[in-house]
Amino acid sequence: METQTLPAKTIGGYIELQLNPGRIFHPELLPLNTGRNALEYILRVRQYNTIYLPYYTCDVLLEPLHKLNITYHFYKVDEDLDPIIDFEITEKSCLLYTNYYGLKTETVRRLAKTTKNLIVDNAQAFFTKPIQHTDTFYSCRKFFGVPDGAYLYISKNLGISLKQDRSVERCSHLLKSIDLNIEEGYTDYIENNKDLCNREIMKMSALSTRILAGINYEQCALIRQRNYDFLHEHLSSKNLLQLNRAPEEVPMVYPLLLDIAGVKQQLIAKKIFVATYWPNVFDWVETDSFEYFLTNNLIALPIDHRYNADDMMTMVKALNSLL
Ligand SMILES: Cc1ncc(COP(=O)(O)O)c(C=O)c1O
Repeated sequence: METQTLPAKTIGGYIELQLNPGRIFHPELLPLNTGRNALEYILRVRQYNTIYLPYYTCDVLLEPLHKLNITYHFYKVDEDLDPIIDFEITEKSCLLYTNYYGLKTETVRRLAKTTKNLIVDNAQAFFTKPIQHTDTFYSCRKFFGVPDGAYLYISKNLGISLKQDRSVERCSHLLKSIDLNIEEGYTDYIENNKDLCNREIMKMSALSTRILAGINYEQCALIRQRNYDFLHEHLSSKNLLQLNRAPEEVPMVYPLLLDIAGVKQQLIAKKIFVATYWPNVFDWVETDSFEYFLTNNLIALPIDHRYNADDMMTMVKALNSLL
């Protein structure tokens, strides 16, 4: 019988980067390198040949569709961001729905009961646990300071052994955010994001795994909920989007939809950086569509663990001075 010996543990040498040992938030899920690759994994396991996905989503999700030669059709969402399903989902086709801002869990639950071959994109809903028997994926860098990383919930595996990704070359923006400042790391952030394109499906890197294990998830979730509720209290009367947070939901941002052009640019001029979800939508839809209006006018206010009530008040005051 062949016996295998483990490599001997190194003793001594320099002191390595110390990160808090903690727990993984989704220990029961499959840790992969990117959200788009988690989608590829699902498509390969289930062997779907057609996918319905919303116009209102990120274009990187097309990567696996092109790679696997999957036919795709876009669908529209209504003013509550619920899908308008006016097509039939056949045996070999599937429906991808995004849990927008982490605030559409009720719709996800309803779809899971009523829709065949549902795939849930929880990239914006890190803290929402998957629903049994519903293929679901997550992307970690939307919520935490990691270069990459994703989780996948699926009942069946691909049956191939996956290499482990390495993130070391994609971390400069994270290091610069501490050593310089977040603005000086921005160009690196864009470059490092490009490096996530067209990678093969791999296991999550050791580095992202370790960073994620050091996070105080309870605290991060609580701060997000508190900040969200603060903004909701001060801004909901002006908000065209009526998405109420269910008690267990932990949103990614506070989505403020206004019928006033240019507010986003004026906030950015005041150093309140709000992302556009998603610039590619401008190229995909008609200018008079709801999706165009959403992409143009939605102000995604940051509510994450870096901020407190004073920061939320700063944003409310800045907005009030513009409205
Ligand atoms: C809604 C949504 N889903 C999925 C993804 C893909 O995640 P990843 O960058 O980890 O591939 C993104 C963004 O990149 C996204 O915004």
